[in-house]
Amino acid sequence: MNEMSIVMDIAKQAGQIICDAWTMNCLEVSFKGDINPVTKIDKKVEEFVSSMLKHSFPQYGILAEESREIKGSVNTRWIIDPLDGTTNFIRHYPSVAISIALEKEDELVLGLVYNPILNEMYTAENGKGAYCNGKLIHVSEISQLKSSVLASGFPYDAWDNPNNNTMQWSKMIRECISLRCDGSAALDLCRVAAGQFDGYWEKGLSPWDVAAGSVIVREAGGLVTDYSNGCNFLFGGEIIASNPDLHKKISLLMSV
Ligand code: IPD
Ligand code: CA
Ligand code: CA
Repeated sequence: MNEMSIVMDIAKQAGQIICDAWTMNCLEVSFKGDINPVTKIDKKVEEFVSSMLKHSFPQYGILAEESREIKGSVNTRWIIDPLDGTTNFIRHYPSVAISIALEKEDELVLGLVYNPILNEMYTAENGKGAYCNGKLIHVSEISQLKSSVLASGFPYDAWDNPNNNTMQWSKMIRECISLRCDGSAALDLCRVAAGQFDGYWEKGLSPWDVAAGSVIVREAGGLVTDYSNGCNFLFGGEIIASNPDLHKKISLLMSV
């Protein structure tokens, strides 16, 4: 079996943990910051996915949200968000996903985002296109901001950080049809890849939020950059993803 089929199988099993817990009341919610929750299910899914991947690929490293990085013996690592959309999960709002990317020699080569509640599995590998449940997906062809539906989100330090995306949000709402704030960066990226959203921007994100989704957008024909149109979106904390026609128009509105 190749990497993609193994990781799809692991994600399916991990998705069952989320589905089983979906109606549970005792999630043991704690907070990593004022408004940044984590539950026992985030940790359980991460332990499961990490141990399964370590078993199948002992030489690869693992960078996952809830644990310290595990270095591998080769320059290849999995980047994992066990549960993207934890606030949604706690509120039973079905925008939640497991996000797993593979980085080889500092290049993202595989992305998988799985929403087990809606049974939507987005997958992409370098040069092979992007898929939702095995069906090819593509970014939209909307080229004017005034015809676009865009998505974004707010950082977990939004209460205290003056640079909390409210300026960009209020600028953008005057330019497009509407904005969405759905609480899962990984799924926002997949919706751009599938043409449901025309573009997405956000700041204050971590590599596990965007690694897998960025591969899926790229393979669906989209562009993914930081706010300066550079390629530092994985560790730089700022991301713009859209169809190629809209990309520059969105990035021009990012400067405050
Ligand atoms: C969060 C989601 C959310 C984004 C936050 C992320 P989490 O991830 O992706 O959409 O706005 O910045 O941290 O905490 O639910 O894994
Ligand atoms: Ca996340
Ligand atoms: Ca998470």
